[in-house]
Amino acid sequence: MALTLNDITELLHTQGSNQYGGEAVSQLEHALQCAYLAEQAQETAHTITAAFLHDIGHLLSAGKRSDLLLTPAPNGDDLHQYIALPFLRTVLPDAVLDPIKLHVDAKRYLCAVDKRYWSTLSDASKKSLELQGGIYSDEQAEEFESRRFAQESARLRRYDDCAKTPGAWTPPIEHFIEILYSVASGGQNVNI
Ligand SMILES: [Fe+2]
Ligand SMILES: [Fe+2]
Repeated sequence: MALTLNDITELLHTQGSNQYGGEAVSQLEHALQCAYLAEQAQETAHTITAAFLHDIGHLLSAGKRSDLLLTPAPNGDDLHQYIALPFLRTVLPDAVLDPIKLHVDAKRYLCAVDKRYWSTLSDASKKSLELQGGIYSDEQAEEFESRRFAQESARLRRYDDCAKTPGAWTPPIEHFIEILYSVASGGQNVNI
């Protein structure tokens, strides 16, 4: 049970034109905008790659690659942040996987520590927040901060929230595929 880098590229090409939830951009546009925002903020190649792939669980679901692995929670939460992890574990390091895993919890965290943050979320994101467990308590927020790559995940989350602009310019997919390959081949210490 693993995805090769070729599989990931193909998935983005074949399923990327799907709409991104209730937003006005496609999954691929969202991935490219998120990764580009991370790159412009001078994040590491790992965090850029995490931004690029953070919602790939949605694409796996659409491609029916994971339907036997994880069913949605009873309340309808799709748990997409976890779906891709078993497929990616053999090709990418934790510095990429952990921010993907934590990008939903990071929304719950940011709502707790930044009082203005919730009002900046899109309607679709506010709605999914409730399904995902709602705003963290102070104790939960503290526990989140102790997790590995918590700060990278929180920054990724802010790129995620801004990566929903119809028609926004980004580099082409090949640019981020190249960074993905460099991270996959270079272990923990690759920087662009
Ligand atoms: Fe997501
Ligand atoms: Fe997203």
